[in-house]
Amino acid sequence: MKKHIALLSGDGIGPEVAKQAVKVLKAVANTFDHEFTFEEALVGAAAIDATGDPFPDETYQVCKKSNAVLFGAIGDPKYDNDPTAKVRPEEGLLRMRKMLGLFANIRPVASYKILEDASPLKNNIVSGTDFVVFRELTSGLYFGQPRGRSEDGKSAFETSIYTEQEITRIAQLAFEAAQKRKNKVTLVDKANVLVTSRLWREVVTKFHKKNFPEVELDFLFVDNAAMQIILNPSSFDVILTENLFGDIITDEASVIAGSLGLLPSASMGSGLGLYEPIHGSYPQAAGQNIANPMASILSAAMLLEMSFDLVDEANTIRKAVEIAMNTGFVTKDINPEKYIGTEEVGDKIAELVKEKQLA
Ligand code: IPM
Ligand code: MG
Repeated sequence: MKKHIALLSGDGIGPEVAKQAVKVLKAVANTFDHEFTFEEALVGAAAIDATGDPFPDETYQVCKKSNAVLFGAIGDPKYDNDPTAKVRPEEGLLRMRKMLGLFANIRPVASYKILEDASPLKNNIVSGTDFVVFRELTSGLYFGQPRGRSEDGKSAFETSIYTEQEITRIAQLAFEAAQKRKNKVTLVDKANVLVTSRLWREVVTKFHKKNFPEVELDFLFVDNAAMQIILNPSSFDVILTENLFGDIITDEASVIAGSLGLLPSASMGSGLGLYEPIHGSYPQAAGQNIANPMASILSAAMLLEMSFDLVDEANTIRKAVEIAMNTGFVTKDINPEKYIGTEEVGDKIAELVKEKQLA
């Protein structure tokens, strides 16, 4: 198979971890006889520095002509504490999601046996966790207009808007996923307070009844969901939720896996898929060869499965990551006593992928 991949490394540790994912994808190409070509493009603070724009048109064009996008991370502390900054790296990420039509962000959360001690939660709670969050990604409070400051600057506002069509299209993906998993969807909302949430409930309930009556559907208010994710994570299968709630609960859910450095994600929509670790740019660690590349490598596995339908190849990567983890080839976040560097973890996983019999 011949495929072209846009490589948007971005900021902070983004370039280091994405480099390991590329290394592993190249090992897959070698081992399984595919041809993957990569084309780099600028995004985030790196793009602002070079062009003044966090998502330049050139980068958009590189994505459009690719078969998938591998993304690192975005964000630079020099913008975080500067409320007067005219342009921010995060704007690039949001514009990219919108322009590429990536309306569904898919974040799987699973516990690894060997890492159960690394989770701040007790083993018996973490054990057996296996759910996936479908977060709506291109609407809601993140994008609704109007937003801004009052004329005197003393108040600020945003608008949360959802349409039936925006809810239905992500519900479709969530129910389809549930059918291939444990057949259950939990809609997380705040329907006791928000009218947008009441629309979500109404639309999802109707959609479920008409199209997926055999899938179990239940509802949780987001505050309760935040609690249940910590108390009883193995009770979930597919969580469906709006943009802001999904942002918050997926960071929360990441503690279950034992490290934020392990969680991959996929963003899908109108054809093109974008794959990225859910961790951010972690600028304090940049350039030190200490960042965990596993989330980025696992994102590459999602890319192979979801954009190219290469399931064996994807599972080979997952297996290689698991073996590396079980045999102690891990970064400092996983084992602060005995660890190796970002590059070395990437080398090990690439080497394991070449032993094809893992799958
Ligand atoms: C994420 C991030 C982004 C978001 C930020 C960097 C804008 O937290 O992908 O979860 O809020 O969506
Ligand atoms: Mg987030």
